[in-house]
Amino acid sequence: MKISVIGCGYLGAVHASAMAKLGHDVVGIDVDGAKVARLSAGEPPFFEPGLAELLTASIASGRLRFTTDPAAAAAAEVHFVAVGTPQTRDGHAADLRYVNAAIDSLFPHLSPGDTVVGKSTVPVGTAAQLAERVRTTGARLAWNPEFLREGYAVHDTIEPDRLVYGVENGDEASVAVLDTVFAHALELGTPRIVTDFATAELVKVSANAFLATKISFINAMSEIAEAAGADVTQLADAIGHDARIGRRFLSAGVGFGGGCLPKDIRAFTARAEELGRGESVAFLKEVDAINLRRRQHVVELAVDELGGSVVGRKIAVLGVTFKPHSDDVRDSPALDVAVSLKGLGANVVATDPKGIENARARHPQLDYVENLEDALRGADLVILVTEWPEYTGLDPAATWESVAGAVIIDGRNALDPDAWTAAGWRYRGMGRR
Ligand code: UDX
Repeated sequence: MKISVIGCGYLGAVHASAMAKLGHDVVGIDVDGAKVARLSAGEPPFFEPGLAELLTASIASGRLRFTTDPAAAAAAEVHFVAVGTPQTRDGHAADLRYVNAAIDSLFPHLSPGDTVVGKSTVPVGTAAQLAERVRTTGARLAWNPEFLREGYAVHDTIEPDRLVYGVENGDEASVAVLDTVFAHALELGTPRIVTDFATAELVKVSANAFLATKISFINAMSEIAEAAGADVTQLADAIGHDARIGRRFLSAGVGFGGGCLPKDIRAFTARAEELGRGESVAFLKEVDAINLRRRQHVVELAVDELGGSVVGRKIAVLGVTFKPHSDDVRDSPALDVAVSLKGLGANVVATDPKGIENARARHPQLDYVENLEDALRGADLVILVTEWPEYTGLDPAATWESVAGAVIIDGRNALDPDAWTAAGWRYRGMGRR
């Protein structure tokens, strides 16, 4: 099919490249000229494993190109809207300005029979409003939420674990178009749920709300474990063996961050309040509060370990991204911890395999070093806040040689406490004995 993808960020760039690999003819459209230039040269403007290879191969096939010109959409019959919906500056609601701008830019280039497919995460009710406008051009609207995880985005796009189509009044034409677009996934037996707009929109936010709740649940247990002298990692293993609960997303630590979970639970709460159902998701405020408390807890542990003050002490912060295998620092717990400790007067030296450039753009006041050894050398305290394999695989004995104070805070419960203790370290986990 001839496809346009509006918005070439973490979602759209991967979607465009994957659709081209699957045989479609794709144009990616973005307002950011620098991003378009990099993508056109086969260079991803952000780090995502496998994307560089996918991008290069898709461009070489002649089926993928990028432009800033919205008129390029005129040649396409299916238009994916993949722009961001960040948190508004002055509140918790989702900021829909980019979605509206994408539809505005597309509007003059739509032809009767085209299908506009929303992928962005939006407050329930958005698609119904947009559909009215799209309909005036003779085009149709469908909503097809995206569930990709950063770090696994290429895999999740080519082999999603489910497809959700939100359509109006059982609109079979849109379903047929989406079935053609996603023929590869459907051949693999991917479950497909066809529903209305509101359900499709809610599927996305409720999935993220559930995941956030699962993480905050185990982090709440971690707080109790700390008070009671129990071990949250063993607790998670034990309850995780119950197939109804499952072990995934039960890793206690410094909590969730990123461009999705934090802002999506806040936007969901704001939308539920607008619908007069704030009480139904009031627990999400607790989920958010528990999550943010874990960041503060790491800071308090650091102060405690350094004898009540961090002023002038060198703290090596390992990781700045919100999770490993990504360069994304949006709402990153790691960066929050580093910034708080710097604010308390510590000599914070942060390192990360991929996130330093993005972190520096947001927080230029921090000291960053590329080299892990430079971060560790002479440190009074080491804090692991993003579980990159480079850090979880550190040899405690060799690391001991580099530092001034052998104290480690494992903000992700990713290290073996016995091995670190045996090598002479003082180990502090999150809700671990
Ligand atoms: C998430 C959803 O998983 C994805 O389906 C949706 O489309 C977008 O939002 P992503 O933001 O890439 O994806 O990250 P995810 O892997 O879900 O991790 C989110 C955060 O939770 C990370 O900061 C991670 O470190 C943290 N996390 C995850 C935990 O603290 N504990 C866990 O057990 C799992």
